[in-house]
Amino acid sequence: MRSLLSCLVLLTSFVSAAPSARTSSFEVKEKVFPPRDWKIHSDASPDHKIELKIGLPQPNFDILEKHLYEVSDPSHYRYGQHLSKEEVEAIVAPHPESLELVTEWLASHGIGEQDITRSSAQDWMTITVPVRVAEKMLDTTYHVWKHTTSGESIVRTTSYSLPIHLHDHIDVIQPTTTFARLKSFKSTIHRFDKETGQIVAQSDTPMISASGVSVDPSCNTTVTVTCLKQLYNATDITPSATINNSFGITGYLDQFANFQDLQSFYAVQVPDAVNSSFTVISVAGGQNNQTLSEAGDEADLDIEFGFGITFPINGTFFTTAGSPPFIPDLDTPTDTNEPYISWLDFILAQEEIPLVITTSYGDDEQTVPESFAKRACAGFAQLGIGDGGVGDGDPDPATQTCITNDGTNKTEFLPLFPASCPYVTAVGGTIHVPEVAVDFSGGGFSNYFSRPAYQDAAVSAFFENFPNGTFAGLFNPNGRAIPDVAAQADNFQVVIGGETGLIGGTSAASPTFAGFVALINDARLKAGLPSLGFLNPLFYSTAISGFNDITSGNAPGCGTEGFNATVGWDPVTGLGTPDVGKLISLVTAI
Ligand SMILES: *[C@@H]1O[C@H](CO)[C@@H](O)[C@H](O)[C@H]1NC(C)=O
Ligand SMILES: *[C@@H]1O[C@H](CO)[C@@H](O)[C@H](O)[C@H]1NC(C)=O
Ligand SMILES: *[C@@H]1O[C@H](CO)[C@@H](O)[C@H](O)[C@H]1NC(C)=O
Ligand SMILES: *[C@@H]1O[C@H](CO)[C@@H](O)[C@H](O)[C@H]1NC(C)=O
Ligand SMILES: *[C@@H]1O[C@H](CO)[C@@H](O)[C@H](O)[C@H]1NC(C)=O
Ligand SMILES: *[C@@H]1O[C@H](CO)[C@@H](O)[C@H](O)[C@H]1NC(C)=O
Ligand SMILES: *[C@@H]1O[C@H](CO)[C@@H](O)[C@H](O)[C@H]1NC(C)=O
Ligand SMILES: *[C@@H]1O[C@H](CO)[C@@H](O)[C@H](O)[C@H]1NC(C)=O
Ligand SMILES: *[C@@H]1O[C@H](CO)[C@@H](O)[C@H](O)[C@H]1NC(C)=O
Repeated sequence: MRSLLSCLVLLTSFVSAAPSARTSSFEVKEKVFPPRDWKIHSDASPDHKIELKIGLPQPNFDILEKHLYEVSDPSHYRYGQHLSKEEVEAIVAPHPESLELVTEWLASHGIGEQDITRSSAQDWMTITVPVRVAEKMLDTTYHVWKHTTSGESIVRTTSYSLPIHLHDHIDVIQPTTTFARLKSFKSTIHRFDKETGQIVAQSDTPMISASGVSVDPSCNTTVTVTCLKQLYNATDITPSATINNSFGITGYLDQFANFQDLQSFYAVQVPDAVNSSFTVISVAGGQNNQTLSEAGDEADLDIEFGFGITFPINGTFFTTAGSPPFIPDLDTPTDTNEPYISWLDFILAQEEIPLVITTSYGDDEQTVPESFAKRACAGFAQLGIGDGGVGDGDPDPATQTCITNDGTNKTEFLPLFPASCPYVTAVGGTIHVPEVAVDFSGGGFSNYFSRPAYQDAAVSAFFENFPNGTFAGLFNPNGRAIPDVAAQADNFQVVIGGETGLIGGTSAASPTFAGFVALINDARLKAGLPSLGFLNPLFYSTAISGFNDITSGNAPGCGTEGFNATVGWDPVTGLGTPDVGKLISLVTAI
């Protein structure tokens, strides 16, 4: 039986190979050490189908990056002159030779144009093939890998090869070596306590926030939309419903956003917004089941605070399919376990996208191979905007998450992706009034991305006063430093599945921060100015005085006390929390 099959396969490829097809011998393209909590479970079924995404090089990416920094730099004459989708696509388009060679290689494996889905910039090709075909194409062997603590399974390999003549024409092929588990940054210490669902004031004296505004005493223990508006000096800001502003929230992992919960939340916290709704966009077949018991805590937290802060700005919730545990024995590609890239693919193909998008999901940078992280990050540069929540969101014991998977088992602080991407705004967390760093506000330094120029001065200033030698070898001081900014992250009063309670995690900080950015965009649009686009170069320069510096607290991890929040930028709270009123004056004067 087996010999008959291989004979047939041989015949097929023989017949369909174009006579002119170039061939060359295989050479390893990428090899990784599996993260220590993944173990081989069994052979992959040869018939199991996988959806392979092939990333072609973008030879002009440096030009895109130059444009991005120019239009995002408030001191540049091109500030705010965002590029159109077509302009961006023309820049990131692959070389015609790459397109030709890769298409020809696919054809030699019987994969024709009708089997290929191409991204609108032509820089990604997606095909669905059985494992046995992928193994031949990539001269590799896939296995079913099991995650030791969660029991999740995925079909992956630790190394793959390509014919030598294709090495310069393909950046990445995934899923091959990616072991990322997309996680929500709702912290492990999150509480959803029905008992403490009411507002408890510690005293009746109004509190004074870092920016000097008066805050209700209850906000120290129970955070509401009103609290956040007070704390961040945005109480008097009413966005326009008619200007073309927009705000988006991503959801993954079957985190469904519940309309009824949102209404219950609005009734208590944002009465003006009662009966207003948001648009749901399904990506790759993502669902949004409205059964109350299916309401996602992360999704509900994100929409309640995100849309609550931004009402009446048009809101969109993107629900992307893909939910572990994945059952790898099915012959259908129901789950590629790369929902993140599915979303990016989708969003980059849209004519219109929200002006601010927040995401509260990610994984340890090291579980995403460098080549793939760089391509996904390049996608964020294309978007020119994004909000990556950064957090110590890993549910595994600290002893495991602090160990490298580069084969040496070194102990290291592990940064998170996509927060570590320099084209994303990473948001850390604070707690209480006056604000201090919350102990789960993870920050740090990327091992993949070097420090971008926009944060050079701020991060160098941090190191000036950093006790030299501290944590030596535990982090890469030259890496992209995170977070960029911070916002409140704990004790958020939410309604989930019909119940009121408190919840926290750095995932609370990203929709909050992004929501206020939408209010700042509102002021820009009202003034006839373009929206802000990619935020970081602005934040580290012209807008730097629009942040409340958070100078106490620290984020323990890896058996250490971690970094401290300090005067100026620090790797726990970044530049600090927003003073929206001040930021608006600063950014409407550019
Ligand atoms: C807020 O709570 C924290 C922690 O319990 C406390 O240290 C701080 O003094 C409180 N702030 C005010 C203004 O009471
Ligand atoms: C808001 O979204 C709705 C539905 O997509 C659309 O019809 C409307 O024009 C949008 N309004 C603005 C001001 O963008
Ligand atoms: C909003 O966008 C629509 C369609 O692009 C346009 O016709 C309209 O003039 C815009 N409105 C404002 C206030 O900019
Ligand atoms: C919301 O809609 C319901 C049902 O249509 C209506 O009874 C209620 O008065 C509305 N509430 C507000 C505040 O508009
Ligand atoms: C929604 O979830 C419920 C409860 O799990 C389930 O019974 C129902 O079939 C789901 N509906 C859809 C449309 O998937
Ligand atoms: C690193 O840890 C893995 C998994 O525990 C083990 O198999 C490997 O031998 C270790 N490598 C070194 C260099 O200690
Ligand atoms: C640490 O070293 C840097 C450069 O090597 C220096 O600028 C800085 O002042 C030193 N910091 C302290 C606290 O000594
Ligand atoms: C953090 O601050 C504490 C108290 O001032 C100090 O002992 C510790 O050395 C600091 N840690 C770092 C990493 O700067
Ligand atoms: C709050 O914002 C207003 C502008 O809306 C500004 O004038 C004021 O200084 C800000 N307040 C504080 C305490 O920063």
